[in-house]
Amino acid sequence: MKLIRRHLICRALLSTAFGGLLLLLVGQFVDAGTPSLDLIPLDSTELAEDILNLSLRKFEWQVQTPHPLQLKYPYSYPFLLNHPDKGEGPRGAPFLLMLVMTQPQDVGRCQAIWETWGNETLELGVIIRHLFVLGLPPPLFTKELHELLQEEDRKHGDLLQVGFLDTYRNLTLKVLMGLEWMAQYCPDARYVLKVDSDVFLNPSFLVQQVLQPNGPPWPDFITGYIYRNKGPIRSPDHKWYMPPELYLQDIYPPYCAGGGYVLSGPLALRILSVAQILKVIHLEDMFVGLCLQQLGLEPIPPPPGSFLMFPLAYEHCIYHQFALVHGFQPQELLQIWQDFQTVNKICPMP
Ligand SMILES: *[C@@H]1O[C@H](CO)[C@@H](O)[C@H](O)[C@H]1NC(C)=O
Ligand SMILES: *[C@@H]1O[C@H](CO)[C@@H](O)[C@H](O)[C@H]1NC(C)=O
Repeated sequence: MKLIRRHLICRALLSTAFGGLLLLLVGQFVDAGTPSLDLIPLDSTELAEDILNLSLRKFEWQVQTPHPLQLKYPYSYPFLLNHPDKGEGPRGAPFLLMLVMTQPQDVGRCQAIWETWGNETLELGVIIRHLFVLGLPPPLFTKELHELLQEEDRKHGDLLQVGFLDTYRNLTLKVLMGLEWMAQYCPDARYVLKVDSDVFLNPSFLVQQVLQPNGPPWPDFITGYIYRNKGPIRSPDHKWYMPPELYLQDIYPPYCAGGGYVLSGPLALRILSVAQILKVIHLEDMFVGLCLQQLGLEPIPPPPGSFLMFPLAYEHCIYHQFALVHGFQPQELLQIWQDFQTVNKICPMP
């Protein structure tokens, strides 16, 4: 009995779907046919025009289905782990809000960052807050990682988990949701740092030399390691593949490398609002470049050589002239941090 019912439901569904498809096809045909009805006799140019019309229609149909690398945004992804209080502490809005991009399976890195450059009580004379931004683990690991994440979050209360799958190609969503968090809970942050979890960061250089708390506010400020005249990579297997359907031009606008860039709070909010109307694509740093272009802005060069994109052997004095070095494992951070923090070493003036 049950089986028969299921069979019937299936057939009903199938015939509805089929009927719908048929209607659609007939609709298209009738539509495409209309212009030629009053054009008797039909000559070959008109026929060609008709065919062209029909294929344009098909093309329209195609472009309505988004490319898999175009991300679903804007969309109300939920914050599953959240700490609204990080935005406005008793001492007011932070001078610098760090949004540290982390993957659920890499949450072990948080501890090393927490003990090194993520330490919020370093005496720098300004308020710094950080959040580790992550998405959902791959379905197979959900159960194991859920416990671990909860525990990690109980320790330090600094995980911001957003409800979408955490993949490299969803990174732009992570950054945008980090900015949405800022807009909602921390809109008065003077600066926002977007940073990956595999970097060495020198908060004191970043604050004193790059951001200069005593200088005038600079609402259109964004800096980092700047890429200019970069073009899209068109081989589909590449990590940074860009299909022409999503970006047709040969050159990207200037943008800051994703390992770490810092921008003023007001600009972060403007980028977020531009992102609501642009096609959101998977290469996060380049996407921020597109938003800047839309705003008629460009990144501002940092102090020369202060953002390094490749790891370099540690040396106390040299490292004090960097704001950020990309390509650091947590273990390496812990190894160098104590020496890095030693204050009684004399370095030559740069
Ligand atoms: C953070 O920095 C303060 C001040 O330098 C220090 O006393 C504290 O031990 C550091 N915290 C951690 C977790 O290393
Ligand atoms: C991004 O996340 C969404 C929602 O979880 C998921 O359906 C989609 O497959 C992810 N996209 C990519 C490109 O990883």
